[in-house]
Amino acid sequence: MKTLVTKHLILRPLKITDVDDFYAYAKKPNIGPMAGWAPHHSIQESYEILKMMIKENEVWGITLKHEDRLIGTIGLHVRNFDNAMLNQKEVGYVIDEPYWGKGYTPEAVEAVLDYAFDTLELTKVLCGHATNNLQSERVIKKSGFIYTHEEVRNHFDHTPITIKMYALNHDQYKEWKHDKLKDKI
Ligand SMILES: CC(C)(COP(=O)(O)OP(=O)(O)OC[C@H]1O[C@@H](n2cnc3c(N)ncnc32)[C@H](O)[C@@H]1OP(=O)(O)O)[C@@H](O)C(=O)NCCC(=O)NCCS
Repeated sequence: MKTLVTKHLILRPLKITDVDDFYAYAKKPNIGPMAGWAPHHSIQESYEILKMMIKENEVWGITLKHEDRLIGTIGLHVRNFDNAMLNQKEVGYVIDEPYWGKGYTPEAVEAVLDYAFDTLELTKVLCGHATNNLQSERVIKKSGFIYTHEEVRNHFDHTPITIKMYALNHDQYKEWKHDKLKDKI
């Protein structure tokens, strides 16, 4: 997995020594549940999940440039048969609460989209948020994604939740980047 560098962040492979920092935010009640997973109950649980993520090699650790400490994760996942058959992946992310609202996640998403289209040559990247997750909705809209549909998924406690789904293909993404650059000039 390639390390990606942005203005403020380094997205790097996860390491088993990230476990303390991972557990520190994964146990919080306002992090995992918004992304569909239960808060971790013990550092052992974080350790097992971290080990699995390292093995799957789909998730980058988010760190600030000046400090190699895990503050979140971002990944590109094959969620279902269609994703695998159509060369698509879904982006998912979390970031610890003290770092909210600084634009770090959109910055990480942009680096991952560059990598997804330019290096992995994916046909499409998908992204979704629970209808009540307005913070994630903002990230998705600021990242140029286009709304496609709603689907129902099972929450970690098995209750059904409605997810708003969005997508971007290569050309749509490049057009969004182009427009963003034009606005800056
Ligand atoms: C969703 C999440 C990744 C957003 O990350 P971020 O780095 O804060 O993203 P941004 O800085 O672009 O902020 C997104 C929006 O959050 C809102 N926000 C900012 N700071 C906030 C705070 N302290 N509390 C609540 N909302 C806040 C703002 O509306 C902001 O959008 P705006 O700046 O365009 O107004 C982060 O909130 C998070 O990890 N939440 C828990 C897990 C999660 O929801 N993951 C996504 C699953 S789909």
